[in-house]
Amino acid sequence: MSAATFAAFAASAGPARIEINEVAPRDGLQIEPVVVPTDAKVAFLDALSACGFARIEATSFTSAKAIPALADAEAVMHRMARAPGVRYTALVPNLRGMERALSCRPDELNLVMSASETHNRANLRMTRAQSQAQLLAMIAAAGQAGVPVNVSLSTVFGCPFEGEVDADAVMALAASFAAAGAAGITLCDTTGMAYPTQVAALCERFRRELPQAGLTIHLHNTRGMGLANALAAWQAGVARFDAAAGGLGGCPYAPGASGNVSTEELVHMFASMGVDTGVDLGRLLEVVAGLPELVLRDTPSQLLSAGPRLRTHQPPAWMAAHFAAQEAAQQALQQAPQAPHEDSRNGSQDGARR
Ligand code: COA
Ligand code: ZN
Repeated sequence: MSAATFAAFAASAGPARIEINEVAPRDGLQIEPVVVPTDAKVAFLDALSACGFARIEATSFTSAKAIPALADAEAVMHRMARAPGVRYTALVPNLRGMERALSCRPDELNLVMSASETHNRANLRMTRAQSQAQLLAMIAAAGQAGVPVNVSLSTVFGCPFEGEVDADAVMALAASFAAAGAAGITLCDTTGMAYPTQVAALCERFRRELPQAGLTIHLHNTRGMGLANALAAWQAGVARFDAAAGGLGGCPYAPGASGNVSTEELVHMFASMGVDTGVDLGRLLEVVAGLPELVLRDTPSQLLSAGPRLRTHQPPAWMAAHFAAQEAAQQALQQAPQAPHEDSRNGSQDGARR
């Protein structure tokens, strides 16, 4: 099968075009031990803005005690440059956060709560019922302000405190927010507990029961299943993906949390399959190459080390001389006059007779 046939085969399995929401400025920087200076955050956002993302989650409006790394949310939102065609969104956990965010003219708001009770309490210091009531009020208020809302549901594929999470409870929460007017719902695998058949089953169910609610999938690569889960979601018809440049990311209130599925690896996989992501992989890799300077550590990006699959290398230096010498010896052998070898011919005939 040719490469083109492979691409055509793959593109028939899921959406031909996907949208990526780059979340490294929020999900990535919220867990880094270093607090990235505001100037550097703005430069990071501006570099990401040139990569072709549909959305960028610029920051979160949370309590500075809970997430000190993002305490400069207003300054970041005011100072970043807004590229045409990119929707800038911000995560908000409560009404106070929404008021702060709205003063910064976001294109969208991303509300958050957990599908599991214990993680919601640990992360947001509220019961699920309290969070749900507050989010419903926020959806109504955002509607009046004319700002579209997405709701991110954390721990839907598993909770680091409780284990399995009930899919019926996830769907009930999602349905309540969709009915209240949320334009989109994100199913989040907060600590990389999801596996591909589980992702496919929940995404298919979501699309069947809530066909009007824009579905996004948010995956962490904590157990190495990030891209496999992304592929399963895509095969189930999902066309919107959260991802973080360099595979940064994690929730500080989820034990064992680690990085998101890396944007460059997600883009590289889908682009190889002929799926349009809108993202310029070359530019994105340049941004990823600069991340160690931003977060003062190496990132887990395998693609950055290996390069895109068709990046070719110079063959070893010894090869040219070695094979040229071999060819020359062969030619010399062919050109040398052939003397008859009666003895050996007889010998071989003898051998054949025996
Ligand atoms: N932005 C800024 N400050 C906020 C705030 C917000 N969105 N919400 C609350 N505060 C302030 C209050 O004004 C109060 O300040 P004070 O101590 O100076 O009076 C203080 O925080 C405590 O307020 P309270 O309502 O009691 O909040 P809390 O301590 O119960 O925390 C949250 C609730 C939701 C604000 C907090 O848990 C939080 O920000 N969590 C976000 C976690 C997160 O982002 N996780 C990763 C992403 S999933
Ligand atoms: Zn996350």
